[in-house]
Amino acid sequence: VSNLESNHSYEISVEDINRNYAESSANVRARFEVYSYAYPYIELEDKAISTLRNLGKLPLGATVLDVGTADAALHERLVIEHGHEGEFWGIDPNTKQFAMLTNLIFSPEDWLSQKQSKRELPIDLDQMARMQEQGQQYITHMIGNLILREGRAENLDFIKDNSVDALFAMFMLYHLSSPARQRAFTEFTRVTKEDGVVIVATSGSDNKQMHRLLEQAIAGLLNIQAPQPMNTGFTTEKAKEELPTHFNHVYMFNQKSEIQIRDNHGIEVYLRSLRSLRDQFKPIPSEDDYNNALNEIIMPVLREHIHENGVFIDKAHRTIALCTSKPLPGIEKHSFTSI
Ligand SMILES: C[S@@+](CC[C@H](N)C(=O)[O-])C[C@H]1O[C@@H](n2cnc3c(N)ncnc32)[C@H](O)[C@@H]1O
Repeated sequence: VSNLESNHSYEISVEDINRNYAESSANVRARFEVYSYAYPYIELEDKAISTLRNLGKLPLGATVLDVGTADAALHERLVIEHGHEGEFWGIDPNTKQFAMLTNLIFSPEDWLSQKQSKRELPIDLDQMARMQEQGQQYITHMIGNLILREGRAENLDFIKDNSVDALFAMFMLYHLSSPARQRAFTEFTRVTKEDGVVIVATSGSDNKQMHRLLEQAIAGLLNIQAPQPMNTGFTTEKAKEELPTHFNHVYMFNQKSEIQIRDNHGIEVYLRSLRSLRDQFKPIPSEDDYNNALNEIIMPVLREHIHENGVFIDKAHRTIALCTSKPLPGIEKHSFTSI
């Protein structure tokens, strides 16, 4: 993975660069936390990882690329919960999120000069030096087998052809314009080994339906515009159309769960998710106005639902797809459906 290749360069449009991906990992996590209230509870990444492990497709030493890695939570999961040992590359255009890992962002030069930190962090300095020799200037973190780099799905020119065993693109393809996404799929196929796998996750158009209604209620109340649903560009429905045009075999697992909020903790988690969207409204409301709306209008709605029905319900409709060039025998046992 570590060779710089320049013959795949791609011009990124201003529109793509300005797309609204600049999120804090705290906001991303706040929006994902509500899924811990889903019944049935399904951890989509785990579902994919254990299925692939069972099929022998994700050995411990596999080279993994996580596109749109945010704070590399997937790395932690793979290592801690699944004992992963292979190289893990995380790329994201919003490298601020990497800081969540160590609270440090270094250029390679800084890194090599930080003797103190070198002792504290398990950095592979030999590998670091090798990469610098090969001209990789953009590596911001390298901790053991975790390599974090600024990068975008639609331009993986720093990654060799056929070098990745498993490429994850989790809840990120909807941040790309349609042409950029088609370009990203081409890049995914190029960098993934012939018997490798591309794992894509997104959500359905009716995912978190109540959340959206409440966003509209806030917008109405503050006389502003509600955010566009984040997944609009690449919903489950779109994925069903697009993935088979780029991959020979697509196996999908659709989660159809209910988010069930029954207590104050659940209310707090749900409100935190709504709070994370404040700066997506137009114009952006003040923190006071927004929090007032949440506390005075939205919280009582949740409480009333719980008071009357014992529960406030929303939808968790999400999808994970395993995409391959060769068939995955035995996959159906794992409740993935071939499309
Ligand atoms: C909703 S977060 C998902 C984070 C992580 N994959 C997960 O599932 O927990 C979307 C991430 O995609 C990143 N992103 C946005 N545009 C991207 C692009 N063109 N290429 C790669 N990542 C992108 C964002 O910066 C953000 O970190």
